[in-house]
Amino acid sequence: MSTILVTGGAGYIGSHTVVELVKAGYDPIIFDNFSNAKPAVLPRIKQICGRSVPFYAGDIRVREQMERPFKENKIDGVIHFAGLKAVGESVKKPLEYYDNNVHGSTVLLEVMRDYGCHNFIFSSSSTVYGEPDKVPLTEDSPIKRANSPYGQTKIDIEYMAEELQKAVPEFSVTLLRYFNPVGAHESGLIGEDPRGIPNNLMPYLTQVAVGRLECLTIFGKDYPTPDGTCIRDYIHVVDLATGHVAALKHCLDKPGVHIYNLGTGTGYSVIDMVKAFSKAIGHELPHKFGPRREGDVVCCYADPSKAKNELGWVATHTLEDMTRDAYNWQKNNPNGYDD
Ligand code: NAD
Ligand code: UFG
Repeated sequence: MSTILVTGGAGYIGSHTVVELVKAGYDPIIFDNFSNAKPAVLPRIKQICGRSVPFYAGDIRVREQMERPFKENKIDGVIHFAGLKAVGESVKKPLEYYDNNVHGSTVLLEVMRDYGCHNFIFSSSSTVYGEPDKVPLTEDSPIKRANSPYGQTKIDIEYMAEELQKAVPEFSVTLLRYFNPVGAHESGLIGEDPRGIPNNLMPYLTQVAVGRLECLTIFGKDYPTPDGTCIRDYIHVVDLATGHVAALKHCLDKPGVHIYNLGTGTGYSVIDMVKAFSKAIGHELPHKFGPRREGDVVCCYADPSKAKNELGWVATHTLEDMTRDAYNWQKNNPNGYDD
């Protein structure tokens, strides 16, 4: 079976994808510098998979470190998760974001080209669509200048990989645009473990639920949506992980540029999420309303039919599954991987 290098494989989406790769018979290799992950994830992955997964400690920006797995293994393809992802932080530290994300991806793609590894799958984001003119978003919806350096790095890396594919036509470049990944593996062994106070809705909800935070503030209540709060396409992280396996099966050694939205196609408001979460924990989750958060798009959800038609992939987990698994992970690991 194919050997797949997973950059950022110790992180939230990467760790779940490694598990699904093993399950599907692939041989993943994890590459991570632990800038936003903990070594404790590795034995957890082993426990779920029933075998250990090879690991390289390294930084994608450092050529000698990035080359090591290619020197020591025949790598058939790369799934590239490694990068910084905090929108607010990127506004304060733009250069760090361009360096880590864009420069890091340049080094990775150079090494892949030089070692003749032509299968590249990239973690892009629905953020490339900006504030949508209409929903649901298809892969042909216009790309808009991003409203954060983070979002702009996703657009830049997409373009860079597409340009490389034109120059080196053997490349198979797959751009996966994720909507809002949430939830955790059903075992409760791996999940999202953000540093400090979470920026994203779901980890905030789970931390309020276990008493680590007091109360959720809902950002804005006067948006032009049915209940006045913003709408997103939340997707279970295990569905996202199987989306990568489906993309790998379809795109491996198929030269060209392949672009897929990975979402469920259903939009939920912040209030819907609070209600679903309150149901999962059996009482009303403490919440209050605050001002709008700058830069938030009003309503964003996917048309996932291209992935369904071409990859044979659909998201199968319900909102109930997402809240149950997120809560289960947080309950079992109130301090994340630090326990
Ligand atoms: P994460 O922070 O949990 O995972 C990223 C991993 O990359 C971490 O383990 C981190 O240690 C590692 N890393 C960062 N910089 C590195 C470097 N220079 N060298 C080596 N390793 C490095 O984030 P995630 O939520 O799992 O996201 C994975 C990818 O998906 C990211 O590229 C992110 O931008 C993208 N994405 C995430 C979301 C989301 O909401 N979580 C949405 C759309 C796209
Ligand atoms: N929200 C709150 N209170 C909170 C946190 C979030 O009300 O404490 C609201 C936000 O205002 C938004 C919704 O919950 O309406 C979802 O917010 P998230 O931060 O969870 O998700 P975003 O859609 O804003 O951003 C996410 C990722 C970005 C990525 C984007 C598109 O964080 O990295 O999806 O993929 F760019």
